[in-house]
Amino acid sequence: MATQKKHFYIATILNPKNDKECDFLPNGMIVTEKSKIVDILPLEKGLKKYSSKMDKKNTTDFGDALLMPGFFDMHFHWVQDDVREMPKDSLLEWLEKYTFPTEMKFANKAYAKKRAKEFFARLTKAGTLGGACYSSIHEHAVEAAIKNVQGDFVIGNVIMNMNSPKELTQGEDDSLDITKRLIKKFGPKHAFTPRFAITTTPKVMKKGSKMADKAKCFKQTHLSETKAEIDFVLSLYRKMPGFEKVSSYTEIYEKTGMLGKRSLMGHGIHLSPKELKTLNKTQTAVVHCPTSNAPIKERGLGSGLFNFHTVEKAKVRWALGSDIGGGPILSMFDVMRSFVDQNQKKKVKGATYVKALYRSTLAGAEILGLGKKTGSLEKKKLASFIVVPLKQASSMRNAEEALSKLIGPHKLKRLQYDQLVSQVVFEGKEVIKKKA
Ligand code: GUN
Ligand code: FE
Repeated sequence: MATQKKHFYIATILNPKNDKECDFLPNGMIVTEKSKIVDILPLEKGLKKYSSKMDKKNTTDFGDALLMPGFFDMHFHWVQDDVREMPKDSLLEWLEKYTFPTEMKFANKAYAKKRAKEFFARLTKAGTLGGACYSSIHEHAVEAAIKNVQGDFVIGNVIMNMNSPKELTQGEDDSLDITKRLIKKFGPKHAFTPRFAITTTPKVMKKGSKMADKAKCFKQTHLSETKAEIDFVLSLYRKMPGFEKVSSYTEIYEKTGMLGKRSLMGHGIHLSPKELKTLNKTQTAVVHCPTSNAPIKERGLGSGLFNFHTVEKAKVRWALGSDIGGGPILSMFDVMRSFVDQNQKKKVKGATYVKALYRSTLAGAEILGLGKKTGSLEKKKLASFIVVPLKQASSMRNAEEALSKLIGPHKLKRLQYDQLVSQVVFEGKEVIKKKA
C-alpha cells in the first residue's frame, strides 16, 4: 500500500543565502518527505501542483508567520545558564567571582543531568538547532549534554589545568584521558575545548589537538576577548620554554596546534593584521558574540566591538554565537539584534538583519561542514526550520523589513526573544508544537 509521505507547510518563508541576500517568499509552501525538503514554491503554484495530495492531516498552515532555518549558535556555555543575569564588570573578574563557582556545581552528576534536560529543552524552544557548546570540566556533564541536546552540535568539556580554582583544576593526564574517552565515545560530536590559553597548559593543548585532528573533531577556545586577557596570556607564555618570543595570542594557539579548518575561536575582538593572516592561512573560524561583548549597561561584559569588516577583508570565516552566560539571552534573535544595534550606534555600515540571519544559520552550518545538508531551506536539504508568528508577515516588502519588524519591538524586554518561536521542525519532525 502506498503511504502518503509528503507534508505541506504554508507560511512566509525567509531563506538566507549570504550576507546580502535572503529569499523572501510571502505566502510560500515547503513540501517535505521524511527528513528532507522536496520542494519550495509560492503557495499559488503549490496548490496547483499538490492540491490533489493535500489533506487536513498532511498540511500545516502557519498563517501569519515567518518560517526560517533553525539557528546555529556557534559559541555558548550550557553550564552558565545561571550566570547570564549576574553582575558583569569585566571578563577575568566575572569568571572568578561568578562563573567558576557556578561551573563547580556540575561536579554533581545528578545536578548536571537535571540541568541538561531543562537547558536543552529551552534551547530547542528558542529555535537553536545546531552549534558549538562548552561544558564544565566534568566528563559526565558532557555526556548529559550530548544525551539531551537536539540538533547538529559539537560539545566539549572545558579543559583547565592552571590558573584556576582548585575545584576546577585537572591534572594534565586527567584532561588527556577524558579527551581520549570522549572522542572514543562520541567521535566528532565531541569538541576539544581548552577553556583558553590562560587555563590550559601547552602540553595539553598540543596533545589534545593532535587527538582531535586525528578523529576529525572540532577544536574550540577563546581568543582575544579583552585587553587584560591578552596582556595576561602574553606575560604568562613568554615565561614558558618555547614561547619566549611569541608576538601574539594567536601565535600561542598556532604553536600548540589549536588552529585549523575545524577550529572555532570565540570572540577575536582585538586581532592584529598579522593574526588575521594566520587565521586565514590556517582556515580557522572566529565566532562573534555581540551580546556578550556589549557594554555593561546592555548586560554584556563590555569587551568591545568586533570588526567584521576587517575579518571579512582578511577572508576569515565567522559566525554568530550567544556566549551564554557572557551573553544574557538564549535566543539568537537577541544576538542578531545586538549585532545590528551596536554597529548602527557606531555608524558601521553593512550590519543588516539579513547578514545577521545568515551568520546565525547557514554560516554556522558551513563552518561545521554541514552547509550542504542544512542551515538553509533548499530542495534536498534537511527539513529543519522554525516558525515565528508575525502580524501581516506576508505584506512585508522583503526579508530585512520582516526581520526588523519581528525583532525590533522586543529590545526593551529581551527575555521575550526566547518565546517568539511557536513551532520547531527538526529533520522533518515537529519537535516543538504550538501550544493548544
Ligand atoms: N574566556 C575564558 N572562559 C570564558 C568564559 O566562560 N566566557 C567568556 N565569555 N570568556 C571566557
Ligand atoms: Fe565563551
